[in-house]
Amino acid sequence: MKTFAFTAGFAAILAGAVTAPHAQAADRTASADKTLAAQAEQVFRSGFRRDNPPYWMARIEQDEAMRLCSQYKDDPPDAVRRRIEAAQRATLRYPVDGKLVGDWREGEKLASSGRGGHIGFIQPDPPGTPRGGNCYACHELAKKEVAYGTIGPSLRHFGRLRGGGDDVVRYAYEKIYNSNIFMACTNMPRFGLHSWLTPEQITHLVAFLIDPESPVNKD
Ligand code: HEC
Repeated sequence: MKTFAFTAGFAAILAGAVTAPHAQAADRTASADKTLAAQAEQVFRSGFRRDNPPYWMARIEQDEAMRLCSQYKDDPPDAVRRRIEAAQRATLRYPVDGKLVGDWREGEKLASSGRGGHIGFIQPDPPGTPRGGNCYACHELAKKEVAYGTIGPSLRHFGRLRGGGDDVVRYAYEKIYNSNIFMACTNMPRFGLHSWLTPEQITHLVAFLIDPESPVNKD
């Protein structure tokens, strides 16, 4: 009887008395997290005017990759990471003529332009403004442009360092088309996936990175 009481008591502690407060605290934290997340979402959404074009408004909805990256705070478990990267790979589209290296001069212009997508009150871009890649916002590229950001690694001498082999060309194209293929939760935008840049424009950026005559490699 005593043994039973002890066992029962011990079991009760294991099942309830000890674990329940932890579980309750975890529940409370989870629900506070949810409330905060919902409030943050509301603040975020209220920053966008309802009369923005539907295409822009559609872009504030997360796709599966973004949702999973948010859920795992950009550090998903391996299996999830591989799932995201495989799904992103399936979105790849190539130029119709299959040529992945375009004209570096066009690429240079695209890399330097951050216009084409400005929304809001101050200086919105008129519809039809050509879009740029804004690569310098995050990367060092040609030597002569000194105003570059450092969110991404330096791409100076990209072609000089890696060569212009088929694998390097394909990697550069695919990376610009959909950067999440190679890093599930990267900060780099998915230029091709979102039709921000056309496949042909991406080939110009590939040339800018790889052509030996491009200022990325020349000086
Ligand atoms: C908002 C910031 C941002 C912008 C804009 C951006 N990138 Fe990136 N890029 C990154 C980050 C961060 C990385 C490193 C993480 C990764 O590999 O995704 C990266 C990585 C890369 C890489 C791979 C580098 C390597 O060592 O293999 C290439 C190539 C690249 N970017 C090209 C471009 C080009 C071309 C543009 C413009 C069309 C561009 N990026 C615009 C943030 C950006």
